[in-house]
Amino acid sequence: MQSWVPFVPESASTISGRVDALYFYLSGVTVFFTLLISGVIIFFVVRYRRRSTFEIPRPITGSHRLETLWSIIPFLISMSFFVWGTQVYFAQYRMPKDGIEISVVAKQWMWKFQHSTGQREINELHVPVGRKVKLIMATEDVIHDLFIPAFRIKADVVPGRYTAQWFEATKPGRYHLFCAEYCGMNHSGMGGWVVVMEPAEFENWLAGNANQQSASSAGQQLYQSMGCASCHGPNAEGGRGPALQGVFNSQTLLNNGQLVKADENYVRESITNPQAKIVSGFGPIMPSFQGQVTEEQLLQLTSYVKSLGTNQTDTSGARPAVTPAATPRK
Ligand code: CUA
Repeated sequence: MQSWVPFVPESASTISGRVDALYFYLSGVTVFFTLLISGVIIFFVVRYRRRSTFEIPRPITGSHRLETLWSIIPFLISMSFFVWGTQVYFAQYRMPKDGIEISVVAKQWMWKFQHSTGQREINELHVPVGRKVKLIMATEDVIHDLFIPAFRIKADVVPGRYTAQWFEATKPGRYHLFCAEYCGMNHSGMGGWVVVMEPAEFENWLAGNANQQSASSAGQQLYQSMGCASCHGPNAEGGRGPALQGVFNSQTLLNNGQLVKADENYVRESITNPQAKIVSGFGPIMPSFQGQVTEEQLLQLTSYVKSLGTNQTDTSGARPAVTPAATPRK
């Protein structure tokens, strides 16, 4: 079903109405002033045209009242853009605490999704209606950008780190997803569909695809097969590295005295570049696993660390676990 306004995609998420309202306001203000200014220009051109060859215009001394007025009104209008835009931005890019987590790996030229229960999909993403869905995104190669117009969400997927975005679909249906960052030859073909289903139907779909290993258990297997546990087991068995139990989302003290939050990006960096942040009391002995594990495996390892328990004592702010990618409009 198309919107009644031409070129506007269907509106199917909790945020899309707010994005549209702001967008229509911006368009409305723009149209209003375009018409007003063009009208006034035409009126003045006709009204104050030179009527005789030697006519000299009346001198103008200026008007403080008029100048104050046309400074304050545009100021207030610009501030309304800023305040309203900021509110919508934060509503859209601040990650909710609860919700389903889905990992996304972009590569030239496909989107790979994995549900926390293990189901994998390519270029298709099944989600239930009325639930918050968090996308934790990584890329195997270059920058991509996941864009779902009907949900009005869009964020870059950047090499070397995780980015995130979320949505809550409001009606069942099939919605286009796109790559919105030029990423090479088949960029234009790097798209697919989000399939929004009724909760019961979604449960059926999950159950029908349940023969896959969950992300965290795949991560655990990898963790064992790569010998990670010989240095730091979940409860610090091995003794050469910090314990992993309860680490996720906790405040971690580093050997330089700095406190950092052990979020997804911290876990990822600790695997690919262990020297970057060393936990207080431990030596810089861990080798880098950069290039030895794929982005998909990194996400599985991260979800294993998550499954070892999160430390939710720090609920001070609605800070996102992952820094959302600010996406400049392209
Ligand atoms: Cu991926 Cu464009």
